[in-house]
Amino acid sequence: MHVALDSDAIVGGAGAFQFDLTVPGGPVHTAGVTVVGVLPTHRRRGILRDLMRTQLEDVHERGEPLAALWASEGAIYGRFGYGLASLSGDMEILRTDAGFARPVEWPGSTRLVGRDEALRLFPRVFDPVAAVTPGMFARTSDWWDKRILSDSEWRRAGGGELAFAVLELDGRPEAYAIYRLNFSYTDGVPTGKTVVVEAMGATPGSTAAVWRYLLDIDWMAQVEAGLLPVDHPLFLLLLDPNRMKFRVGDGLWLRLVDVGAALAERSYAVDGDLVFEVSDPFCPWNDARFALDGSKTMADPDLRLSAAALGSAFLGGFTFADLVRAGQVEEVSQGAVARADALFRTDLKPWCPEIF
Ligand SMILES: CC(C)(COP(=O)(O)OP(=O)(O)OC[C@H]1O[C@@H](n2cnc3c(N)ncnc32)[C@H](O)[C@@H]1OP(=O)(O)O)[C@@H](O)C(=O)NCCC(=O)NCCS
Repeated sequence: MHVALDSDAIVGGAGAFQFDLTVPGGPVHTAGVTVVGVLPTHRRRGILRDLMRTQLEDVHERGEPLAALWASEGAIYGRFGYGLASLSGDMEILRTDAGFARPVEWPGSTRLVGRDEALRLFPRVFDPVAAVTPGMFARTSDWWDKRILSDSEWRRAGGGELAFAVLELDGRPEAYAIYRLNFSYTDGVPTGKTVVVEAMGATPGSTAAVWRYLLDIDWMAQVEAGLLPVDHPLFLLLLDPNRMKFRVGDGLWLRLVDVGAALAERSYAVDGDLVFEVSDPFCPWNDARFALDGSKTMADPDLRLSAAALGSAFLGGFTFADLVRAGQVEEVSQGAVARADALFRTDLKPWCPEIF
């Protein structure tokens, strides 16, 4: 946590969790930037800029190649070298509209569990999913306990208490759901809502089954869920996916704090070489040409782009072709965009299932 002082009064601050963020190929030490704020009495005089500079220099010194954050307002962080790296979806569906195209049979069992058992079982589903999904980060037991499974009054916001369900097969947890039931009746008819906090399956079958479970809870008229990946299997499971009224917004913003180390730690879908000419006025140590192995080079560049644009492509959330269409990448050598897209291709869209 860094603070900004006016004499001895704290007037602003910025924090960072120490995460292991999954990128294509494995986990990378990442600063999970959080609780950024400047008092309204001291705004617009450069305090955020100073905090961001000090924080990024510190992250760099700690040897964390990446910084990631959720932006309260998307307009703030681009100037500090953060690029939009993943998208996130919300949906709300009437239960009467929530049929699947093909029936789902869950061969295992489904149980409601208490918080202690959830704490023991859910990470067994979450960990393997997080290990292969770009944009997810590893959770400690403390994180589960205090952030995911805690049911504080302000999080409940007048809704039902947190419920936990686990789907098991041969004694193994395969999927789980964390949700609330917000009861209401109007004119004798149930109008309540199942609010999904997190639903996760380790396999395609258990993912479909956990959503079927959530969509089938009696007395509820609707199901609402947020922080969903934009390639969610529900698009293909539901008979009429439009009924989800899926809304897409920005997800994780990513900052390559050390471009060379970040490139070196990522894996690539095919063999090949590429030279990036990166511009990075805010972190000048990145203002250089980089080969894919992360080394600095004097070779001719193939692509010219900002550190923020490379952040947008890094997890596979946007292709270099997308970035070209937005005027954020210059193709210097012919065919370089297609080569870069083959190298950076990922099977899964990046997904960060929680705001930190
Ligand atoms: C957003 C906030 C941290 C900005 O702090 P600040 O000290 O006023 O910002 P600075 O004076 O250092 O501004 C740095 C730059 O960001 C811009 N900026 C600051 N806040 C902005 C906003 N909300 N939207 C767009 N641009 C913003 C400034 O115009 C300035 O631009 P410049 O580089 O062109 O000069 C502060 O207004 C705040 O605490 N807001 C409420 C909490 C919040 O939104 N925090 C972010 C959580 S993710």
